[in-house]
Amino acid sequence: VRLEDDQWGTGIHPSALVSPQAQLAEDVTVGPYCVLGSCRVGAGSRIGAFCRIHDGVVLGRRVKIREHASLGGVGFGAERGPDGILARFPHHGSVIVEDGVEIFPYANVDRGTFGPTRVGEGTFVDHYVHIGHNSSVGRHCIITAQVVLCGKSVIEDRVWLGVGSIIREGRRVGADATVGLGTVVIKDVPAGATVAGVPARHIRSVPPSS
Ligand SMILES: CC(C)(COP(=O)(O)OP(=O)(O)OC[C@H]1O[C@@H](n2cnc3c(N)ncnc32)[C@H](O)[C@@H]1OP(=O)(O)O)[C@@H](O)C(=O)NCCC(=O)NCCS
Repeated sequence: VRLEDDQWGTGIHPSALVSPQAQLAEDVTVGPYCVLGSCRVGAGSRIGAFCRIHDGVVLGRRVKIREHASLGGVGFGAERGPDGILARFPHHGSVIVEDGVEIFPYANVDRGTFGPTRVGEGTFVDHYVHIGHNSSVGRHCIITAQVVLCGKSVIEDRVWLGVGSIIREGRRVGADATVGLGTVVIKDVPAGATVAGVPARHIRSVPPSS
């Protein structure tokens, strides 16, 4: 039986493209076919095959980024001019991923417009999650598959976001809250609440694991 953590290999795979400006701690692992810009990667962090880490991204220590994840790319933001033609809204910010975070395959974290997009210490981010520009995810959260955080969402510590839930831009989900699967959050969620449905409604105040 192979243990999960045996599969990362060691060192920088020869097929990875790593910017000369990247600052990698000595024991960092970078898998095959990764492309790393001028990012910083902390000690003990591991980056799986085919990941894209853009300029300005800062990864803390013992971070695990699994295959095909993308961090620090430009956000989708578009503005329509008076002539009706779309122009790209500039995104010059960064992404900060704190110590011990795990990000699963095909997840995407956009860089901020000016400030950073943040994923807090010890948080787990599942497959196909999208974290929009300038969102802030707190510490030790569980963000399950296909969650979408529209730009500038604030997710406080230890929040649990169910599969496919969507958090409207700029909304805050309070600490220890639970958001049910498929839920659309359009208003702030109080700390400790459990909400579910479209739009999200309070269903009870104590999450099932407590
Ligand atoms: C929100 C959740 C935690 C609540 O679980 P629970 O405490 O067992 O709640 P119940 O199933 O008893 O449901 C309570 C009420 O909320 C409703 N409800 C629960 N989850 C809902 C959801 N996701 N959307 C809409 N309504 C929901 C139920 O229909 C029920 O309504 P009723 O009282 O009118 O019959 C759970 O339903 C949920 O969505 N879990 C997320 C699952 C998930 O994403 N797993 C990922 C694993 S990787």
